[in-house]
Amino acid sequence: MRILSGIQPSGKLHLGNYFGMMKPALELQNEGEAFLFIADYHALTTVHNAALLREQVKDVALDFLAAGLDPERTAFYRQSDLPEVQELTWLLSVICPMGLLERAHSYKDKVAKGFAASHGLFTYPVLMAADILIVQAGIVPVGRDQKQHVEITRDLAMKFNNEFGETFKIPEPSIRESVAVVPGVDGQKMSKSYGNTLEIFGDPAALKKRVMQIVTDCTPLEDPKNPDACTAFALYKLFASDAEAANLAARYRAGGFGYGTAKKELLAMINDYFTPLRARRAELEKNMDYVEEVLQKGAAKARVEAHKTLKAARKAVGLE
Ligand code: ADP
Ligand code: TRP
Repeated sequence: MRILSGIQPSGKLHLGNYFGMMKPALELQNEGEAFLFIADYHALTTVHNAALLREQVKDVALDFLAAGLDPERTAFYRQSDLPEVQELTWLLSVICPMGLLERAHSYKDKVAKGFAASHGLFTYPVLMAADILIVQAGIVPVGRDQKQHVEITRDLAMKFNNEFGETFKIPEPSIRESVAVVPGVDGQKMSKSYGNTLEIFGDPAALKKRVMQIVTDCTPLEDPKNPDACTAFALYKLFASDAEAANLAARYRAGGFGYGTAKKELLAMINDYFTPLRARRAELEKNMDYVEEVLQKGAAKARVEAHKTLKAARKAVGLE
């Protein structure tokens, strides 16, 4: 089964991104023939700063390789290294009903957030459909917010097949419903836009300071505490075994235990987990030629499929 997913290069990685998106994406490599790409064409709909875009693409490539992406098993590439995607976008654009895009909520959400209402932002889902269809992906694992885009992809593939003859495989979305929302230091959803993140590849001293800032209630030290109402405990559970979590929960409930201790234990957990990844990332960063080689090899693999699909689509519409 061919599995494909894309990731937007969107800044410094935080715990929410890691557990919500990256870890599940890396687990895909055990489930089939995996394709994972850095959606830099998509990023251009919101990032208009060349140095920043380059930096964010480099960061996401390093982050994924440091976190365990195996380039032997997963074709890892930059979307823009597959220019065939652009031509397929056009072939899909000419059959895409306006109404389909007018109903898409991500466009409306982004405009409401203040992004410029560009043609590119509006047709974002058509580019995404081309990403998926060009490698004839069968399964597309995405977060809930992207489900509608995969549905649009299915509609476009069926419409194209109907009008021009069988060309595309119809992909299935695989939605990560079970991934819990990771809370930030203020207890809301962790998100760059709320300024409440814990960055995993940031400065360790800054991380320590942030962990100590996690908002807790003012139950006195000696009183019993409810672990399930505490952000530090929710974060601790992401790393802990069941036994470790049960042990910490029992200490909360027993009283005589302060939130400061819980935060220290959380910090130790975060550092134990990410120290090897940070070391790997630092090594990789010294060897950007290798990172580039991985991306080129991934693109070469994806391009074999892209060529075949684009040729079939060009023939179907009468360009060849
Ligand atoms: P941010 O909200 O920081 O801007 P993005 O919107 O760039 O994060 O999210 C990138 C990916 O990380 C998405 O797939 C999203 O589902 C996941 N993600 C982001 N924040 C969280 C969170 N707090 N909990 C779980 N998953 C998250
Ligand atoms: N739009 C996706 C997101 O913001 C990223 C993406 C682009 C993608 N193309 C894709 C995801 C194709 C899956 C398949 O998260």
